[in-house]
Amino acid sequence: MEISRGSWGTRMGFVLAAAGSAVGLGNLWKFPYIAWVNEGGGFVLIYLACIAAVGLPIMLAEILIGRRTRLAAVGGLGAAAGRRWRLVGGLGVATGFVLLSYYAVIAGWSFAYMARCLQWSVGGYPNGYDGVAAFGALAANGWVQVALTALFLVATASIVYRGVGAGIERAARVMMPALFVILLLLLVSAMTMDGAGQALSFLLAPRFDHVRAVSVLEALGHSFFTLSLGMGTMITYGSYLGRRESIVRTSMVVVVLDTIIALLASLTMFAVIFSIPGLSDRLGASAVGMLFVTLPELFYTVVPAGALLAPLFYLLVMFAALTSSISLLEVVVAYLIDERGMQRKPATLTSIVAVGGLAMLCAVSLGAWGAASNFELFAGKLGVLSTLDHLVSNGLLPLGGLGITLAAGWFMTRKATEEELSVGAPGWFRYSVWRFFIRFVSPAAVAAILVAVIFFGRDFS
Ligand code: PHE
Repeated sequence: MEISRGSWGTRMGFVLAAAGSAVGLGNLWKFPYIAWVNEGGGFVLIYLACIAAVGLPIMLAEILIGRRTRLAAVGGLGAAAGRRWRLVGGLGVATGFVLLSYYAVIAGWSFAYMARCLQWSVGGYPNGYDGVAAFGALAANGWVQVALTALFLVATASIVYRGVGAGIERAARVMMPALFVILLLLLVSAMTMDGAGQALSFLLAPRFDHVRAVSVLEALGHSFFTLSLGMGTMITYGSYLGRRESIVRTSMVVVVLDTIIALLASLTMFAVIFSIPGLSDRLGASAVGMLFVTLPELFYTVVPAGALLAPLFYLLVMFAALTSSISLLEVVVAYLIDERGMQRKPATLTSIVAVGGLAMLCAVSLGAWGAASNFELFAGKLGVLSTLDHLVSNGLLPLGGLGITLAAGWFMTRKATEEELSVGAPGWFRYSVWRFFIRFVSPAAVAAILVAVIFFGRDFS
């Protein structure tokens, strides 16, 4: 039986699905946190520069490899650049597998907090509630963690199971606009608060007094994560893209949307935080803290219309996480379809069961099970979940990204890459500029991260 690979129904379908992959916990959970720790302004500018100089060129490279070859990560890299590059694709599939297994645990918390907020919105926020202790108890409750993680993985699989058009594209068409509307509602509410002006200037005024060399590398590492680069997600999604669509235009939209959403989410959170006198000095303990400990309480105490917005906010987190996790699963599923000759349905079931195994281990690694929670392979990274995140963010994604820049810049023919990027390209686009970036600028920048991680033990997770 012929295996149908599927394709996007419309250009908008691809853009929404790719933006859905990019916009995720990275935008709502990681970015506000690292922007906060690095004191805003100057860091944000460096981040924007990284997105433009490294993120965008690699995004173009990934999509063009996928579309050129009509194959997912492994087959695509092999067919585009030579058999040996299949290894880089294989690394990507493995990275997706691991990333999904712990992403699901964090995403599961948004289910829990949505349920809690619904309760509070109806019954009122409990007096004297200790958010820190409550979060700790939730994280350490093994059965609840396993159930939440499983629920999220089942939701992810049920979308991928239905295929590219009827599953992934349809889900993105519903969830992405909803996400945008919810974010705007939150933004409007936050902008009426006293801290709005301070948040704006914190985020946008270019102050470089706090920027250190490592901030640059941190910004670079995050640009991979947030744009879903370095593991073949965009190769896979690009392989379903029609021949006549412009890769340059669609990538621009995806990159701009991802960046705007990260900035608006941060602006919203900071406006709330700056509105409470003294809170900004006490804050900064962890990324988890901001999203699941500080915010819930603030919704019910200070945010205008907070009782209405709080459950919506966690719905937003859930949607964002879900459109990202389906792209992670799709990388694994598409590999099984292209390279192992499987049909989509069995491929999805096989993948999700396998991912589920590792995910369960992550789910009980936050205190529920001592053996999984207490070991420290890398300094400060306790347990399975933190260890895997460290490996993926600091090692596997940059390494995959390096492989992809080299494959596209040095091992594909100029003719092939130029043909792909020229289709429908906007007037300002210069192929030679892209080529310079993909051959020299991007690999050098990525190599810098890897050197920093390996030789100086820097951590960007
Ligand atoms: N970009 C997603 C986020 O910001 C994470 C992700 C990384 C998804 C790599 C797919 C591939 O949350």
